[in-house]
Amino acid sequence: MANDGPDSKKVLIIGATGVIGQHITEALANAIASFDEVGIFTSPSTLQKKGTLIGEWKNSGVRVHVGDVNSERDIKRAYEGYDTVVSALGRNVILTQIQLIALAEASSTIHTFYPSEFGTDIEYGPSSATEKPNQLKLQVRKYIRDNVKKLKVTYLVTGPYSDLYIGKMGGETNAAGSFDVQAKKAVLLGTGEEKVSLTTMEDVGRLLVAALLTPTSNSERILKVNSFTTTPKEILAEYEKQTGAEWEVSYTSLDKLKELEEQAWERKVPFATVFTLRRIWTEGGTLYDERDNEKIGNPRVESLEDQVRSAVRQQTKPPNDNGPFARIGSAI
Ligand SMILES: NC(=O)c1ccc[n+]([C@@H]2O[C@H](COP(=O)([O-])OP(=O)(O)OC[C@H]3O[C@@H](n4cnc5c(N)ncnc54)[C@H](OP(=O)(O)O)[C@@H]3O)[C@@H](O)[C@H]2O)c1
Repeated sequence: MANDGPDSKKVLIIGATGVIGQHITEALANAIASFDEVGIFTSPSTLQKKGTLIGEWKNSGVRVHVGDVNSERDIKRAYEGYDTVVSALGRNVILTQIQLIALAEASSTIHTFYPSEFGTDIEYGPSSATEKPNQLKLQVRKYIRDNVKKLKVTYLVTGPYSDLYIGKMGGETNAAGSFDVQAKKAVLLGTGEEKVSLTTMEDVGRLLVAALLTPTSNSERILKVNSFTTTPKEILAEYEKQTGAEWEVSYTSLDKLKELEEQAWERKVPFATVFTLRRIWTEGGTLYDERDNEKIGNPRVESLEDQVRSAVRQQTKPPNDNGPFARIGSAI
């Protein structure tokens, strides 16, 4: 009995305007006819800074609740009438979710919660328990397993976002893998032949909507989904094909990546997490015997070819045109 849980008809998104939250909200706004209510909860400052984007969603029928994510009163008020919460909160505020989950558990209407995961499998293997980037998300899973009795919880594990993985890095993070369309230069990780399972940011939204429309009766559902599996060399070959040119290629071996990772953590630089995650991915930490796309109706997903096409378009845009690569340094 997999799909007979309560329906997610009234969905509230928290962290809606962030790197992945935007794609999630966009996908829900596009699928609004399948839901009775779609809303976002955001702060007064985000409402001011991102008024145009939020205004577009409002025009599509998305309700907007404004308040402080740390205020019990504001959250309780926003939860009224919703049955499902999707959290896309950023890495810096992952533990804020513990109060959000406690309030959802106590709410008379919320029956389903999607914590902010949307990334690397934090319980992939024995070493996952000690990897630094996993620690806060592991605390959230532990809180849920120890305390939640009523809520149904779905973790959407997507692996790395291909938009970022096949993108152009800069400065010191260049050694963590980069594809520079203008310069026709690539830095490949490992031997270039290690497989990595990727999800496009647009597909994260699409797969989330599919998960919402396929409820479960299980108290915990972990869905490991992806768009495609590839290798750095295959990505390079697709870029060379689409740009009609041979690229200059260098490599960061797994040993070198580990060395850079160690140095970055010693120096306490914010991009240390980038090196750790890319080391985990190069070691095979995104690969599964089976993916769960079928469990949520196998929605259409993008291909490597689609992603490279959009990356070429993004990287050859005029300089002031902000694309998904504008925040690559902070998007981890
Ligand atoms: N798989 C990958 O490659 C990958 C890449 C990046 C992120 N991720 C994962 O995706 C999830 C979301 O990350 P993200 O990069 O999208 O997050 P983000 O853009 O850094 O932040 C998302 C939202 O969180 C809220 N937020 C952030 N800081 C806050 C603060 N101090 N106080 C209150 N609200 C705050 C904001 O909500 P408002 O929109 O309401 O202002 C913000 O837009 C995380 O779990 C992250 O690990 C995965």
